[in-house]
Amino acid sequence: MTFELELRDLAIDIAREAAELARRRRAEGVAIAASKSTIADIVTEADQEVEALIRERLSAARPDDGFLGEESGGDEGASGVTWVVDPIDGTVNYAFGQPSYAVSIAAVTGPADPGGWQVQAGVVAAPALGEVFVAARGHGAFLGGQRLSVTEGSPAGALVATGFGYDPATHAGAIAELSRVMPIARDLRRAGAASLDLAFVAAGRLDAYYERGLKPWDMAAGSLLVEEAGGRIGWLDADERGRRMLVAASAHLHEKLVGVLRA
Ligand code: IPD
Repeated sequence: MTFELELRDLAIDIAREAAELARRRRAEGVAIAASKSTIADIVTEADQEVEALIRERLSAARPDDGFLGEESGGDEGASGVTWVVDPIDGTVNYAFGQPSYAVSIAAVTGPADPGGWQVQAGVVAAPALGEVFVAARGHGAFLGGQRLSVTEGSPAGALVATGFGYDPATHAGAIAELSRVMPIARDLRRAGAASLDLAFVAAGRLDAYYERGLKPWDMAAGSLLVEEAGGRIGWLDADERGRRMLVAASAHLHEKLVGVLRA
């Protein structure tokens, strides 16, 4: 078995266990533990518990690897592999009992930063949907044994998803960008979990997705899903706050969307 497949299979096992813990905690009722940067930027006790479980399992299986998680931060490792983890992506959905939330686990080599890393394996597990999206570099992206493939996405009729940062000062810019995309889209979605938006692009359930200011853990696993499903991941220049925009779509639609977003 290749290195990438070994990392992927480990991530699948751990993501399944973590997804089950998240689902169980949700069924028991969820307490919001704290607000972070703004009132919308919340963390639940389940986020912390699920991340602790993932961290423990990874360090037992691969003690020399690094770790970067949304809730507990980063630790460098000696092996050259770093695990980039969002224990519950879509925390607001999770807290409100909506199904769009996911456990996202990726193994990267190089720096733990989208600017320079190479994602080797990625898993996005959505407990409320009963779905686990998996990818290993060079080995394709799959859902339940079915190989995934992005749509060609006719620009005139594309279903496009996006997301907004939590900082209200950034909302005017996001609205301006939305108004440029709307004329070329069939419709727009803001489902609230970046990793799932990317998984849905990979699965052809969305034609495209873009968002400014994503954190590494929001998009590490999902970006590999898109690339392994034949799509393109690209970055637009940073805004005045230093927030770059990720754009995910088929090559054809990617070019069109980037043109519109830059205009
Ligand atoms: C958030 C979600 C949301 C996106 C935000 C992310 P979190 O992650 O992915 O869709 O718009 O940018 O921070 O906080 O729920 O893990």
